[in-house]
Amino acid sequence: MEVSSRIKELREEIQKHDYHYYILDAPLISDASYDRLMQELKKLEEECPQYITADSPTQRVAGKASEKFSPVRHRFPLLSLDNAFSYQDLLEFDRRVGRVTRTLSYMAELKIDGVSIALVYENGVLLNAATRGDGLVGEDVTANIRTIKTIPLRLRYSLPRLEVRGEIFMPKQEFIRLNEEKEEKGERVFANPRNAAAGSLRQLDPRITAGRALSAFVYDIIYMEGQNLAEQQEAWHFMQELGLPVNPEVRFCADINAVLAFTEEYAEKRHELPYEIDGVVVKLNTLAEREELGATARSPRWAMAYKFPAEEKETRLLGVEINVGRTGIIAPTALLEPVFLAGTTVSRASMHNFDLVKEKDLRIGDMVLLHKAGDIIPEIIASLPEKRSGEERVIMPPENCPACDSKVARFAGEVAYRCENINCPARLKESLIFFASRGAMDIDGLGSAVIEQLVDKEMVKRIDDLYRLREEEITALERMGPKSAANLIKAIDESKSRPPSRLLTALGIRHIGARSAKILSRHIHDIDDFYKLGVENLTSIPEIGPKMAESIVNFFAEPRNRETIENLKALGVNTREEAIEAGEQLLQGKTFVLTGTLPSLTRQQASEMIESRGGKVSNSVSKKTSYVVAGDDPGSKLDKAQQLGLTILDEAGFLNLLGLS
Ligand code: IVH
Repeated sequence: MEVSSRIKELREEIQKHDYHYYILDAPLISDASYDRLMQELKKLEEECPQYITADSPTQRVAGKASEKFSPVRHRFPLLSLDNAFSYQDLLEFDRRVGRVTRTLSYMAELKIDGVSIALVYENGVLLNAATRGDGLVGEDVTANIRTIKTIPLRLRYSLPRLEVRGEIFMPKQEFIRLNEEKEEKGERVFANPRNAAAGSLRQLDPRITAGRALSAFVYDIIYMEGQNLAEQQEAWHFMQELGLPVNPEVRFCADINAVLAFTEEYAEKRHELPYEIDGVVVKLNTLAEREELGATARSPRWAMAYKFPAEEKETRLLGVEINVGRTGIIAPTALLEPVFLAGTTVSRASMHNFDLVKEKDLRIGDMVLLHKAGDIIPEIIASLPEKRSGEERVIMPPENCPACDSKVARFAGEVAYRCENINCPARLKESLIFFASRGAMDIDGLGSAVIEQLVDKEMVKRIDDLYRLREEEITALERMGPKSAANLIKAIDESKSRPPSRLLTALGIRHIGARSAKILSRHIHDIDDFYKLGVENLTSIPEIGPKMAESIVNFFAEPRNRETIENLKALGVNTREEAIEAGEQLLQGKTFVLTGTLPSLTRQQASEMIESRGGKVSNSVSKKTSYVVAGDDPGSKLDKAQQLGLTILDEAGFLNLLGLS
């Protein structure tokens, strides 16, 4: 078969499976079979890039990060909805509609709490996607919308033109995951899934959006050519047929009472849904009658949004518990007088970080207003200062770690306070997993399952205990025979002679990864020397920024960490770079020419890196040039280098040559 026909066939096949998986929620094949189809398509497209089209399922994350979003004028203004806050308001709406129309049947839908979006398909292919903006002009977020897997890049049937409206949302689970990740990095968390969805959609780099599991529902046809529909119910079926993600939780309601019943039902069920809703949308079902009713400047007269009452409760903040997370982050948890809220009894709430505690001015003894972020995570919205008696106590960040008493550190630009002691019992398992990992001390056979047992059985209470383990102790562990125990002891023993840059990485110092550890060890040959260095000494090393320097100084200032290093040394772990001289002069006698802009290094940094290794940097290309390092927009030096047949490196190649990648 011709490659182009196979590509076409694969795309149709994948599109079919996407439809069954994402829209019908009834996959036809296993994930592995699906992956095989995708791999085959990727391979064929790589071999024959001339056949790649924008609607290919491989092209969801295409294009580069942009500078900003361009404005898009909507062809039809995107109206907003009038709000109803009581059943009374809904009955009133029904009476108003009844004055103009004969039928009073409705579609009741869920009001998804996300970001409103308009999608335009031309000849069946997704052309653009824009946010609502002010209703007239929105922002072009096409590149980001393309990364959302539930949104088809091509419809199942072609229409000349289709414009639909829908909602982009972040499922509750993804919201929790993302916030946990942010908390671990010491970053600010999103207040609710809507903000998280909006924030993710506003990323200039579509790869970031692609990493957040956003999803979508479409709920209205704004404009269509090539098909006539009479009812909203029909429109729902038609959009589903086209392969668009429609929400299955909708109901045809023969009268307004049925709408009230739907609303009642979902006021309960909402907490079980995997996404957050903030109400119910009622729409007149007959499309011709919608035309008759028309719209005000702001909103249509044929629809209404019923807003659920806010689920908030007042309760008393009884105390604060301070916990150390597995990565050393120290976070406050509120202890509350138990209250029933959004389906469960709540007695604790994460306060995330001490900045938020201060911002919200929360005090022990306060009456506070509580809600659930993302409908799941209990959270204090605010304190109620008017209810204070004067007995309340201000909450301060701790100076010492509650688990090990080390001094607590805080890094510039982060909201979190951290325990910096690698042996802190709260962090120990995580410290050990990292210590033994491949890029660090690379101890084969020391994975999380073994570490779990070693720590739980108190055989390892601190990192250096690893080097005190005896074979017979290890043999006694679960799933460990004498042979694997012997291998593990051997692997631990071998790790003692890793270069000190590995040890430096393994210590898990914040902001110091494998690459910066290598750079540091080229300048600082003995780990002991770090004790004496200040921020200024460290930042004078090329590529070591103030954040890294501060982190190193903090780490070595902690006596418990120094003690650990002393112990490791006494147990035979290598802390000195012996072969440094040869390494330093790696580039002796070599001449480099730099041209163009490198992706991450400045010219200055690259030059220093060459010179510190004994190489020379020259401005002009000649036969004597050993290497030309070329970035973007390189200019004539690159042409000349090519003519002379010189070795040309990109940044990755350059770093590789220096042994830094
Ligand atoms: S219909 C003209 N249906 O609620 C009709 N809107 O204040 C326009 N929303 O901006 C909207 N779920 O972002 C409709 N099932 C649903 C919806 C929905 C959420 C949002 C939408 C709109 C806001 C109304």
